[in-house]
Amino acid sequence: MENKNNSAKDNTMEKIISLCKRRGFIYQGSEIYGGLAGTWDYGPLGVELKNNIQNLWWKRFVTDREDMYGISAAILMNQEVWKSTGHVAGFADPLVEDLKTKKRYRVDHLLEANGVDPKGMSLEDMDNLLKEKKIKSPDGNQLGDARQFNLMLKTHIGAIEDDSSISYLRPETAQGMFVNFKNVVDSFHPKLPFGLAQIGKAFRNEIAPRDFIFRVRELEQMEIEYFVKEENWAENFESLREEMWNYIKDLGINLEKVHELEVGDGDRAHYSKRTIDFEFDFPFGRKELYGLAYRTDFDLKSHATGSKVDLSYFDEEAGARIVPHCIEPSFGVGRTILAVIADAYMEEPAKEEGEEPRVYLKFAPKVAPTVAAVFPLLKNKPELVQKARDVFNSLRKDSVLAGRIAFDDNGNIGKRYRRQDEIGTPFCITVDFDTLGENPENKDTVTVRNRDTGVQERIPLHDLTYLLKDALIA
Ligand code: GLY
Repeated sequence: MENKNNSAKDNTMEKIISLCKRRGFIYQGSEIYGGLAGTWDYGPLGVELKNNIQNLWWKRFVTDREDMYGISAAILMNQEVWKSTGHVAGFADPLVEDLKTKKRYRVDHLLEANGVDPKGMSLEDMDNLLKEKKIKSPDGNQLGDARQFNLMLKTHIGAIEDDSSISYLRPETAQGMFVNFKNVVDSFHPKLPFGLAQIGKAFRNEIAPRDFIFRVRELEQMEIEYFVKEENWAENFESLREEMWNYIKDLGINLEKVHELEVGDGDRAHYSKRTIDFEFDFPFGRKELYGLAYRTDFDLKSHATGSKVDLSYFDEEAGARIVPHCIEPSFGVGRTILAVIADAYMEEPAKEEGEEPRVYLKFAPKVAPTVAAVFPLLKNKPELVQKARDVFNSLRKDSVLAGRIAFDDNGNIGKRYRRQDEIGTPFCITVDFDTLGENPENKDTVTVRNRDTGVQERIPLHDLTYLLKDALIA
């Protein structure tokens, strides 16, 4: 994995994590009990940001298309699912144990930290290198032998805890689509190519959760399994690749920070004949954001064998039954949120002595939790407060803007701007005495301040809804 920015030891991540907590985006999971590593809770603004990101995805990949079928499958699945897919046998990370403290570490992470790129290495190669280079644990102790550690979180279903009651919290949403392939084909009789899509939770017992919401134990995925005829896989792979870029554009993130990586033969998952990783320049380095994999007919064939159910498809054109091949675009929700926040995080140096630097999140209006905040110029003038409340209520009535308009009359106007800047509100609308008609020329107009430029414009009240809605579709 390329880590271009790892040398940049700045404290951007600390600032982002602190802002996310302070302003109600993301909190440590179970914080009052000392936390639970690798779990995070989304606060009132975080959940809105997440909903916006997921809604954009669902619209682009599901509702705007005729060839996609949305599903929402159970997290708990029959354990046979994970035997068929190879997860029980092989969904594992290479680990070593500190022989003194008994703490476990990822072998690939230890090698990376010692300047070795472990890409494509077998467990044996990595173990040999650890020994050859006499690499110690981060606490300076002797390490044991490297071994594989299964990442699935195991549980038991029902009252009896034996092998027959084993289940797993799913490690990917993908299998929910494969096991429902036949159901959707039987209900809707779709013509190839078509896809099944879902957004949902997945769980991985990461030994070293790290980098805030980047590597976690409880995650959310947005995944598509797109079924094609084998001979058409390459063209469909290309069109889904293009759609992934279009989604990245929807998010408004800087495209220069996103890079494609063709994954080499030794590094692809066992089911994949071709994989492209979409990587993002996070503050802690260039890391995987999304994946696009050509999974061939591996999954349908594996499930047909494992379940003994015929998962072939009658191809009318060929007049024969075939097993479709599959292309999988896979998106992490948390990683998307982190990329959006990290890309949006801006600091503007103080303009005057004694002033704090201005911190703002340059969210695209489409993803911003709050699109506009409405203020009365002064809190102690009831006529201004009443008019500002009227403006707030009328904007909220619009079905597109509902839930994305805030009202704020706390503190002075400068403080309100700072607060809204920090949560990435693109527009601040101020009701002042001109709005009430003190200057008849400006009656029923408000000032609208642009978050990024700080420039204010006077806008007639009746244009506000259009201005905000235009920003949402831009
Ligand atoms: N479905 C692919 C993944 O979870 O990585």
